[in-house]
Amino acid sequence: NRTNGITVAIDGPAAAGKGTVAKAVAAHFGFAHLDTGLLYRAVAAKTLTGMDPEEAARTLAPVDLEDPSLRSPEVAQEASKVAVIPAVRAALVRFQRSFATRAGGAVLDGRDIGTVICPDAPVKLFITASPEVRAQRRFAELSGKGIETSYEDVLEDVRQRDLRDMSRDQAPLKPAEDAKQIDTTEMAIEDAVAAAVALVEAKRG
Ligand code: DC
Repeated sequence: NRTNGITVAIDGPAAAGKGTVAKAVAAHFGFAHLDTGLLYRAVAAKTLTGMDPEEAARTLAPVDLEDPSLRSPEVAQEASKVAVIPAVRAALVRFQRSFATRAGGAVLDGRDIGTVICPDAPVKLFITASPEVRAQRRFAELSGKGIETSYEDVLEDVRQRDLRDMSRDQAPLKPAEDAKQIDTTEMAIEDAVAAAVALVEAKRG
């Protein structure tokens, strides 16, 4: 019974504000939220210890998503690399789709939610911002968590991941044709949240 719950697909490049918008929308409507980047990061954390990527994706367990090291820039880069491998992506599809159809509604954020994972989602958002603004935000976030890095390194990380995520053969980062694009370069994140909430409200009826 999904009388009130719908699927909300949110995609975009690293640090554009997807996570913030996804969490806020989920909280507003009481929907479940899945940060799908965390799945790729959890696979990456395992391959960094020497595990085979496909094996890591197939054996992923809920406890793996709680590893505090998943937020590090090193794991982010490795996540973008394992995300290129078709067998890794394939192993993660079923979990994401079943999460998306939860009775109470679900918000998923990632790179291919509106295009591949949930092509029929009634609400699709593509959230972008300039690489510089995204790097600034991510740098502030990492610094706040006590992770030592520089703005230049974060910008380089963002650029490399954008390029890899957009140019891979399978499920590349791109807006779905029916996605509403929101550019947060010069927009307060609260305004992006408000726009997203209004869109979901309209679709939910
Ligand atoms: O959203 P994030 O920065 O945590 O994602 C980390 C990497 O995982 C990203 O650079 C590419 C990959 N990813 C993906 O390929 N597909 C998704 N749906 C989510 C993330």
